[in-house]
Amino acid sequence: MSDTLSIAIAGLGTVGTGTLQLLDRQARWLTERAGPALRVVAVADLDTGRDRGVNMDGIACYDDALKMVAETDADVVVELIGGSEGIARKVCETTIARGRHVVTANKALLAHHGMELAGTAEKVGVVLAYEAAVAGGIPIIKALREGLVGNRIVRITGILNGTCNYILSAMRETGKEFDEVLAEAQALGYAEADPSFDVDGVDAAHKLALLAAVAYGCAVNFDGIHIEGIRHITSRDITCAEELGYRIKLLGITRRVDNDSNGGVEQRVHPCLIPTGTPLAHVEDVLNAVAVEGDFVGPTMFEGAGAGAFPTASAVIADIVDIARGLRIFTFGRPVAELEKVPSLPMENHFSAYYIRLSVADKPGVIADISAILRDGDISMETMLQHGHAKTSSGAVTVVITTHEMREATMTNALAKIATLDAVEEPPCMIRMEAV
Ligand code: HSE
Repeated sequence: MSDTLSIAIAGLGTVGTGTLQLLDRQARWLTERAGPALRVVAVADLDTGRDRGVNMDGIACYDDALKMVAETDADVVVELIGGSEGIARKVCETTIARGRHVVTANKALLAHHGMELAGTAEKVGVVLAYEAAVAGGIPIIKALREGLVGNRIVRITGILNGTCNYILSAMRETGKEFDEVLAEAQALGYAEADPSFDVDGVDAAHKLALLAAVAYGCAVNFDGIHIEGIRHITSRDITCAEELGYRIKLLGITRRVDNDSNGGVEQRVHPCLIPTGTPLAHVEDVLNAVAVEGDFVGPTMFEGAGAGAFPTASAVIADIVDIARGLRIFTFGRPVAELEKVPSLPMENHFSAYYIRLSVADKPGVIADISAILRDGDISMETMLQHGHAKTSSGAVTVVITTHEMREATMTNALAKIATLDAVEEPPCMIRMEAV
């Protein structure tokens, strides 16, 4: 084994800078733990002049990541550029083609092209590692692939997006609406200028696709994920949920169902009402958490920072140290050819209780009409909330209903009928109630 592992870092933004700083400050520790010394030999960023808080002597600086990959013979290239296409993809493809290891935090790239990249890495005999891509500093890929390897994973339930968790927590604490809290989160740097990947659930879905593949040994199937974001959640939903004993969280959930007639993998990202007394309900602000249930270990939960310079750098370094130690694990825990192609379970067969918010005209007979549709659909109500009344007889009032469990198609059919009632003024809002 060589006494040095050379590293090139593509992308010196928040995580890249954190990684440089961690490698610098923990150098002695890391050598003691990894064996070889970990030495950064090159970095690439459009802004090469900025002070990164570390001594850059002896590190080649490039403003073109592809040039860096072509000219540098580093053992490992750390890709921290991001994005599923473009430079990030080319950096990873070229690095693998050159027989070098890749460490990346790029969940979008792996959710869309992970199978192909993992297949090539396997043929070439290099590592493609991505601990930092899922839940930032939480070592959940290692936990699934190594610590829980003795289990069949039954279910994973995760708060996988810190931006959404922050927004929902702040809406609950302040009573403000989504748009206002999002604008504040952007001003604080918690939310991106273009927040759509986060608030529309796409970022969480990228992570869920990777978790499901590792947990079940199946092919990455991003297209099979049902995705809903949090833009439609109102502060009224949050207060009604609290009154009913629940909190609203954006969850990524995956479950393997093995039976002869209806086998497959459930993969869904959407807001959920979860009971206030459960651990996940108390994971607040920007934190992430992943609850994993294994058949032998039972329920486990991992919580921590899902983003940020140092937590994400911590995960990047874990992959680098694995490579330095000579650990060679398949990207998704088994050879790509052996990853099963398992169908995604359709949402219409999902079984759940539901929270329904309706905006209805405040006049006699409206609830009777709604109840008739629920009765005809064989839907049983659990609770109904209406606070106060509208200021005029033709004004709208919010009615919240929770139901017993049923097939999702039953609920959506009834809601389609409810939406056609003259007294119903907005499309109904449906949020799944989740036993976590
Ligand atoms: N933007 C993500 C989040 C972190 O808000 O959790 C990186 O995936």
